[in-house]
Amino acid sequence: MMENFENLLAQERFSLSGMEHILQHALEDICLAPDFEAAQMLEAVFGATRTDLLLGRSVTPTQQQKSELRRLLTGRLERKPLQYLLGKWEFYGREFFVGEGVLIPRPDTEILAQQVLDGIRDKKNPRILELCGGTGCLAITVALERPDAEVWCVEKSEEAYAYLVRNNEALAAGVKTVLGDALDINCVSGNFDCILSNPPYLTAQDMAELEPELSYEPVMALYGDADGLYFYREISRLWTGRLNPGGLFAYEIGMGQEEKVGGIMRQFGLNTICQTRDYSGIIRVLTSVRQETDVFA
Ligand SMILES: C[S@@+](CC[C@H](N)C(=O)[O-])C[C@H]1O[C@@H](n2cnc3c(N)ncnc32)[C@H](O)[C@@H]1O
Repeated sequence: MMENFENLLAQERFSLSGMEHILQHALEDICLAPDFEAAQMLEAVFGATRTDLLLGRSVTPTQQQKSELRRLLTGRLERKPLQYLLGKWEFYGREFFVGEGVLIPRPDTEILAQQVLDGIRDKKNPRILELCGGTGCLAITVALERPDAEVWCVEKSEEAYAYLVRNNEALAAGVKTVLGDALDINCVSGNFDCILSNPPYLTAQDMAELEPELSYEPVMALYGDADGLYFYREISRLWTGRLNPGGLFAYEIGMGQEEKVGGIMRQFGLNTICQTRDYSGIIRVLTSVRQETDVFA
């Protein structure tokens, strides 16, 4: 397969659809969507649109384009995530810089962004806190969708924090970024109208069975202790008391964690919990509005 790839690449001019076909074939054993990934590579290297591929447009590649396409394909065959190889990825319609050291934004996490935006719709100038920010995809999306909000975002990893700052600047989101520990309640001050988090939530068993691509992502972004629930316990214990009455608490959770995380939220005074499913029908987000009657531990 690499031979076909190199043969076509050696030609002075080739059709994009011919290259698309070779890439798809090379990728089909290692990924679920080889057609999507092949199209993404050709778009990144040649600016090829869907129409270019359908109409079989030809290109005369530069040496740089050839090397870049080779880097993408060999990287993918080594099971590096496409997102890291491309260096950017889309979340809620905007591009975020990504790379090794920071979790790749997932489409399912857009559900959490949407639940937060819906939940704060009627609040004017809300004060919002995201814990465990990574690229900043959540905090930055909320800040850009709600320019009247004051959005804070805490991230502990220095590598991830560098992406958070870079994305915040590139998208001019105005998020107040904090390099700090989400488990230290002094990392930010005051109370909030919304506290959200997509914390590390994989179990020890999940970590032992990671897909090769996931093993490139930082352990610190994935591992939530043996049972995957460490951050839900600690964040709920520490932060529910910092929610204003009527404020929204929102978590992304792993598959099948809804009963346990819901129990933790109740234990710390959030009694009415709403579940939202992701695009695959899995319960992915838990939200709770703090009632006047909720009693905090
Ligand atoms: C699952 S990732 C979520 C990233 C991003 N919010 C998203 O949804 O794509 C969890 C993030 O929490 C960060 N993290 C882990 N422990 C932390 C802690 N004690 N304080 C703050 N951030 C932490 C990791 O570095 C990682 O960026």
